[in-house]
Amino acid sequence: MASSSVSSLLRLSFCLFILQVMNIGRCNAATRIYQFKASINNIQIYVQTKRLTRLCQTKEIVTINGKFPGLAITAQEDDNIVVNVINMTPYNATIHWHGIKQKLSCWYDGPSYITQCPIQSGQRFTYNFTVTQQKGTFFWHAHFSWLRATVYGPLIVYPKANVPYPFKKPFKEHTILLGEYWLKNVVELEKHVLESGGPPPPADAFTINGQPGPNYNCSSKDVYELEIVPRKTYLLRLINAGINMESFFTIANHRLTIVEVDGEYTKPFTTERVMLVPGQTMNVLLTADQPIGRYSIAMGPYESAKNVKFQHTSAIASLRYFGAFPNSVASPAKLPVFNDNIAVKTVMDGLRSLNKVDVPKDVDVDARLFITIGINVNKCNSEDPNNKCQGPRQGRLAASMNNISFVEPKVSILEAYYKKLEGYFTLDFPTAPEKSYDFVNGAPSDIANDTQAANGTRAMVFEYGSRIQIIFQNTGTLTTENHPIHLHGHSFYVIGYGTGNYDQRTARFNLEDPPYLNTIGVPVGGWAAIRFVADNPGLWLLHCHFDIHQTWGMSTMFIVKNGKTVVESLPQPPADLPKC
Ligand code: C2O
Ligand code: CU
Repeated sequence: MASSSVSSLLRLSFCLFILQVMNIGRCNAATRIYQFKASINNIQIYVQTKRLTRLCQTKEIVTINGKFPGLAITAQEDDNIVVNVINMTPYNATIHWHGIKQKLSCWYDGPSYITQCPIQSGQRFTYNFTVTQQKGTFFWHAHFSWLRATVYGPLIVYPKANVPYPFKKPFKEHTILLGEYWLKNVVELEKHVLESGGPPPPADAFTINGQPGPNYNCSSKDVYELEIVPRKTYLLRLINAGINMESFFTIANHRLTIVEVDGEYTKPFTTERVMLVPGQTMNVLLTADQPIGRYSIAMGPYESAKNVKFQHTSAIASLRYFGAFPNSVASPAKLPVFNDNIAVKTVMDGLRSLNKVDVPKDVDVDARLFITIGINVNKCNSEDPNNKCQGPRQGRLAASMNNISFVEPKVSILEAYYKKLEGYFTLDFPTAPEKSYDFVNGAPSDIANDTQAANGTRAMVFEYGSRIQIIFQNTGTLTTENHPIHLHGHSFYVIGYGTGNYDQRTARFNLEDPPYLNTIGVPVGGWAAIRFVADNPGLWLLHCHFDIHQTWGMSTMFIVKNGKTVVESLPQPPADLPKC
């Protein structure tokens, strides 16, 4: 064991050495040990604070190795990735590898209190996983409180050597991270919002690669600039690392051709703008086919809920053609209005898997689940209503799946499950009846006048290899809203979606070429149907990728049992698993 890891370390060092000296393609070494800087001896990454100035204010943010946004980790399909994380901040921390399936490596998935206890201040943990049969654009982010507001970066997995993209090789590739920035300390902010029972404040700015751009105070120099050569085609890897908002993205006078979503190729689809939900990644081709000049790149809000306060100012970056005058004025980019549901549907309708895919057939589905997702207003029984009952009608805001609001445990649930420790969670997450949900204020609601959710830390158990269908139904007790639902450990086929109530008699499913995603924006006041095979043993979080909704309890857990053989079973926990 020890000698083999030493030899792979040497092999890796050599590989990195070759890469650095010759600055050529990727090597074939199987293991990549990362410290986010490609230096050879230091195999640690540090969670550390850094002082950063944005929007006229300097504050401490949490970063990896002092970089914001975080550096890109790159690998090749089937590589093994080893990352030693050392937490030097006063906060708890974990890193989640968003979109990576963690085949047989659930222990390294990263959601705190789900697959591991957080890495406490001064402690360390080594993530060790293989990107088995995966390639494309992913990202890594903290999975504790709202820390991922500043702790995030790209995770790019290239195809194996000599495996081309299914489109003409782009001249160059660039990664564009969409984010939300708060001037307040986000861990304190989450605590404060939860305590108040009320809604969260909007972000202070949207950012493109960490920069808000000229629409914000003191930000005329804080602009990301992308330089391109006329007539060349570029691959842009878009990543929405936002916290509580979905976002439109567009470039003035240019069209974007979507070729990959959530790390899976799609049929090329050309559009003027895209919408990304938090947790979604999208590769688009951009051709420099306009007159030499400067063009704005814009990111702005998609807000489908009513009566929600949000940031209206768009983040602006700059697309500059080589040869453009330095002070030339940028052509403005036109974003859709914030509630343009049609623009969102148009993009969604355009997402098709590149090839015909193998979706579980109707007769083969082993488990059918119906999961309602919505916001609740719980009764507030506090003696301090001014401070604790700031939700509508003096209640407390919550969120739920099947009207059960997830309570974050104080232990690692995966560990509790693996060691058969009792009392930390129950295995009775229900499936809701497939019925027509009543409409309240023009929105479907499952609980009509009763807006109270039940609390619980519940999971649903599946046999290894089960073929699962889930219908997500948005309900509208308070307001309807597009929710970005993310499943850990698996991708799923999105076989259908629509507005209003799901109706088996009229719903149309695409079983030919549906997109294969890990995050689905369930249409506002509507439904989405997914199918997938539960072929990854472990315990997997299913949650809304709006941090505020996760904070309020819009989560549940799926347990996939071990199969019959070793290659179908989760190995022992790692020895250095953090303690709570
Ligand atoms: Cu992007 Cu639970 O994660
Ligand atoms: Cu949500």
